[in-house]
Amino acid sequence: MKWEPDDFELEKSSVWSFPERGNWATHDSKYRGNCSPYVVRNLLLRYSKEGDWILDQFAGGGTSLVEAKLLGRNAIGTDVNPTALARCKEKIAFEYGDAKIEVREADARALAFVKDSSVDFICTHPPYANIIKYSDGISGDISLLDYGSFLEAMEQVAKEAFRVLKKGKYCAFVIGDIRQKGSVRPLGFDTMRVFEEAGFKLKEIVIKQQHNCKMTHKWEKISIEKNFFLLAHEYIFILKK
Ligand SMILES: C[S@@+](CC[C@H](N)C(=O)[O-])C[C@H]1O[C@@H](n2cnc3c(N)ncnc32)[C@H](O)[C@@H]1O
Repeated sequence: MKWEPDDFELEKSSVWSFPERGNWATHDSKYRGNCSPYVVRNLLLRYSKEGDWILDQFAGGGTSLVEAKLLGRNAIGTDVNPTALARCKEKIAFEYGDAKIEVREADARALAFVKDSSVDFICTHPPYANIIKYSDGISGDISLLDYGSFLEAMEQVAKEAFRVLKKGKYCAFVIGDIRQKGSVRPLGFDTMRVFEEAGFKLKEIVIKQQHNCKMTHKWEKISIEKNFFLLAHEYIFILKK
């Protein structure tokens, strides 16, 4: 097993681009909309240290949990979807170091089992409203909500994130904008505002170029016909409690 990326360097600017998917350890791209392990590695190395407790309340396919394990950070990963949780468990089932990784079925809006001010770093990646629906009707799945209801749900997520994070520590999340009926809706900035309203202070906005998006070929044709730009970037918002 290859445990590390070749020639990894920490990012130095606010624009990130990773043309390679990232094929070390158990990472793969099979979980729809999963995050680049390069993003998570950069964030964990900059905002946490060995032995810290990391929270990913939208754990999905487990990218952050694998990286936490490889980098010696303890982690709690939650998701409302049992398929995601089963995948997380499969992905972290390798012998490496001694970090503790907990995988739990829980709603990011209600993490009662996580104590106040107990988490050292939040590194997460919510759905982008209902652009990808992660289930057919799991109660609590916020990827089934329309734009306005999604932002309301994220208010609760942000409050809960603020509660569990230690003072002075950081919360980072990856999110993208969406296009509806021909117009861009700034989901990234709207969600960032929700976190600010919950008490966080904005530290960084990183623009991440998207590569190899599924559906790109179909949308390329439509974008030319209808004269709009394909969205090819996401944001990483980093906020401080
Ligand atoms: C963008 S994916 C995360 C992908 C992950 N970063 C990865 O690399 O595999 C978002 C996840 O949020 C989960 N989700 C939706 N609503 C949730 C909620 N209320 N609480 C926790 N997880 C939720 C979905 O099931 C999905 O797995």
